[in-house]
Amino acid sequence: MNSPVVLITGANRGLGFELARQIRRRGANVILTSRRDEDGRAAAAALEAETVRGSGAGKLDYCRLDALEPQSIHRARDYLASVHGRLDVLINNAGAHSSGDGAGLEVSAATCLEAFTNNCLGALQVTQAFVPLLSRTPGRVINVSTLLALPGMMGQLPGQYFAYRIAKAALNAMTAALAEELRPAGISVNAVHPGWLKTNMGGPYATDEVGAGADRVVSAAFDLPQQATGKLYVNGSPHAW
Ligand SMILES: NC(=O)c1ccc[n+]([C@@H]2O[C@H](COP(=O)([O-])OP(=O)(O)OC[C@H]3O[C@@H](n4cnc5c(N)ncnc54)[C@H](OP(=O)(O)O)[C@@H]3O)[C@@H](O)[C@H]2O)c1
Repeated sequence: MNSPVVLITGANRGLGFELARQIRRRGANVILTSRRDEDGRAAAAALEAETVRGSGAGKLDYCRLDALEPQSIHRARDYLASVHGRLDVLINNAGAHSSGDGAGLEVSAATCLEAFTNNCLGALQVTQAFVPLLSRTPGRVINVSTLLALPGMMGQLPGQYFAYRIAKAALNAMTAALAEELRPAGISVNAVHPGWLKTNMGGPYATDEVGAGADRVVSAAFDLPQQATGKLYVNGSPHAW
């Protein structure tokens, strides 16, 4: 059987980079993507350099992809189609905090729009472009989200990250809605809460190592039955919306 082909957005650093490392260790072929060529190529070279020959690691490929730039998304899709011929798992990992984020009564509409674009619309545009390649398998879509976006969790961190959290709430809703649209094609769409991770975004006081976060995303991407769809996974279990 062919090794699975997995594309990861925002994989030049942080959780995305660790996902690329762990998924290759499982023997899957990874397309590491980055919005900046220089960063993406350096990340791919660093991963290649640590790979032990004969370890069974999957192949690594690099392709530029900016989740907010339709032209780069379509170029990446065409490249994948011509070089790999198919996609088994799409991981929408790219995301960002916005500099003006804060309390709901203070945050500007521009900051909310930026957060929505970075944390939901980018994943939607990428998914729309890659689903035709996924349906040949049928495949899986994983959206990296956060537990803190659930309405029931808004009591945590009140007055903080308002724009980010409502944007990830939209990503969660998108996950559930697309799961229903894609159910007949057998394509699953799930969201994963990776934990609070020691990355640029999570900061140094985060509780979890990036490796533990990647482990959670990888097991949602590979170990769930294909019919499990439309859920947010937290520590391996589906969480009530
Ligand atoms: N860290 C946490 O505690 C935590 C908790 C819950 C969920 N998450 C989610 O996990 C994901 C990864 O976060 P992280 O902690 O690894 O953050 P990070 O260290 O800040 O890395 C974010 C990655 O996303 C990329 N990115 C941002 N916008 C992009 C775009 N338009 N196109 C392509 N790439 C883009 C960044 O690229 P550049 O290097 O070019 O900026 C970077 O590679 C995010 O979706 C985040 O919301 C993180």
